[in-house]
Amino acid sequence: MSLLSTKNLSKDYIESVMEKAKEMEEYKGNAMKGKILATLFYEPSTRTRLSFETAMLRLGGQVISVADSKSSSLMKGESLEDTAKVVGKYADVIAIRHPQAGTAKKMSENAGVPVINAGDGSANHPTQALLDLYTIIKERGKVNRLSITISGDLKNSRTASSLVYLLANYDVRLKFLAPEKLKMKGEVKEFLKEKGMDFSETSDVEEGLKNADILYATRVQKERFENPAEYELLKDSFVFNRAMIEKYNPNMLILHALPRVNEIATDVDNLPGAAYFRQVENGVYVRMAVISLLLA
Ligand code: NCD
Repeated sequence: MSLLSTKNLSKDYIESVMEKAKEMEEYKGNAMKGKILATLFYEPSTRTRLSFETAMLRLGGQVISVADSKSSSLMKGESLEDTAKVVGKYADVIAIRHPQAGTAKKMSENAGVPVINAGDGSANHPTQALLDLYTIIKERGKVNRLSITISGDLKNSRTASSLVYLLANYDVRLKFLAPEKLKMKGEVKEFLKEKGMDFSETSDVEEGLKNADILYATRVQKERFENPAEYELLKDSFVFNRAMIEKYNPNMLILHALPRVNEIATDVDNLPGAAYFRQVENGVYVRMAVISLLLA
């Protein structure tokens, strides 16, 4: 099995990841001794690659990595299929990030070992969504009956759509706060409608923050814009500062996959609900859980 998307994960699987991740907070064993994780990152990353590698090392396993994707044979013209067949001979599990949607799936069809999608273009980023959900549960003790506002570049953010697919398994009130040009992907809204799940959309910040228990902010995804001028126009659509948050809910839980650019002013960082750096730590536990479950 591979972990490619959150769209069709069963609630049982999601809950087993949550339970396992909790166990991993105290884990001191070496269940992955003798196993190797390969990280193949064809797009920039700090957290995701380092936390996958940390997770495998903390499980007692080992890691191999292409130091710089520009130095890999894909640059010589090797097909992704061939790269998959090769890396599958070295590693027991592969984490891949690539700018093109569908790449992780293609890799999983050729590698012969489990593949974890660490981000494919604007499409999916399942481990990020699982760690976001884990953070919500850890910080708030529940998911059901929370009002969650997801803001920013909802057209291009793979973390936003991946999280929504997970949240569709729970009884939550979803609000999408995005500029007109960066509204939530149609396919995600269709999915919610088919599930009979309520959501609302707005481009007005006040409306977006009103009644929110949780704000999940995303970065305007510069690398997905064809026209740099359009990015410049949209990049600072929403800049949340401390006063804005306090006005609506001083205890609001504030999440962000990071990196942040200007979406969250640094004066928010000391609010009790500013959880984005705690979220980073949870990423290690969740990735330990995902690797353990895939290789069990
Ligand atoms: C996110 C990503 O790569 O999609 N970052 C991450 O994995 N922590 C979000 C982003 O880059 O904006």
